[in-house]
Amino acid sequence: MGTKMAEFELRAMVPADWPEVSALIYDSINDWYRNHGFPEIFQGPKDVCLLFCEVYERIDPGRCLIAVESQTGRLAGSCFYHPRSTHVSLGIMNVHPAYFGQGVGSRLLKQVVQWADELGKPMRLVSSTMNLDSFSLYNRVGFRPRMVFQDMLLTVPETGLPVEVPGRDRVRPANLADVRPMRNLELELVGIEREADLRYFVENPDGHWHVSVIDSTAGGLDGFLVSIAHPALRLLGPGAMRSEADAVALIHAELDRHRGHSAVWLVPSDCGHVIRTMYDWGAVNCELHFGQSRGAWTRPDGIVMPTFMPETG
Ligand SMILES: CC(C)(COP(=O)(O)OP(=O)(O)OC[C@H]1O[C@@H](n2cnc3c(N)ncnc32)[C@H](O)[C@@H]1OP(=O)(O)O)[C@@H](O)C(=O)NCCC(=O)NCCS
Repeated sequence: MGTKMAEFELRAMVPADWPEVSALIYDSINDWYRNHGFPEIFQGPKDVCLLFCEVYERIDPGRCLIAVESQTGRLAGSCFYHPRSTHVSLGIMNVHPAYFGQGVGSRLLKQVVQWADELGKPMRLVSSTMNLDSFSLYNRVGFRPRMVFQDMLLTVPETGLPVEVPGRDRVRPANLADVRPMRNLELELVGIEREADLRYFVENPDGHWHVSVIDSTAGGLDGFLVSIAHPALRLLGPGAMRSEADAVALIHAELDRHRGHSAVWLVPSDCGHVIRTMYDWGAVNCELHFGQSRGAWTRPDGIVMPTFMPETG
């Protein structure tokens, strides 16, 4: 006699689910990394991962699909997704370790893929190259790796980085008037549009964010870079810039917000100048990620710096 397979219902996350979703993200990610011999990602209490619910709910209310085990009512998986005018991004997705390998991730993803197909939009995500489980999950529904990114890690000295950076004088904090030019630049260079996200970073209602822009000598903007400082994460990104020199100047400016702390950021692995400069500053590689897409994709005409919080394509 075979064991009865668990059954799952899919529904939209509501605010009452946030504590359980937060604990699920924390346990799923930390368990996966620990069991594969890597350091855990999240430290401290499990509610640090409420950050994902809070930020995503502000940017895209109601865009998290969850799987609940029918018999027990236990949360088995969650998947954040973000329909934009140009594409649908996949945010963080997790299955509780007790339910790994039972098709929960696949059920959630296939539903979101179906919605994207109904909208006729390509999908984008950033996923770890070290995680064959998530690679397989995404690959089976048609995602293909397009770019490789190096996750670079640096502890910024309390007194700041003791280096001179060309172009740094053209970098300044962003203001609301920069949102439209930032949106236009990202659309031009990367082919994606998400003005609401960019506005949210610049408005900074939760106090975690900072945005720098680099002015062009020809007028307008040559780039922007966001960073988040939160107990769960210190990350630079998202960002888009015309040249590697612009990227270096923006990274330098945003790292200065993280004095005395370790921060992580993703650099396209073909950006030799950025990577060599980061090594000179003392940065090390801590992981590799793929930028993946399902459907139409064009190679960026500049530098793209994605992140995981919030996800970007
Ligand atoms: C990645 C994760 C979400 C996968 O969820 P899951 O419920 O365990 O995955 P599923 O059981 O649905 O399996 C996914 C698919 O991959 C397939 N698969 C698994 N390993 C495979 C392999 N080595 N080669 C090919 N296919 C494979 C499965 O057959 C399944 O495909 P199908 O349903 O179309 O047949 C889960 O392992 C997890 O939460 N990991 C930790 C957090 C994480 O990595 N999140 C993603 C990045 S943010």
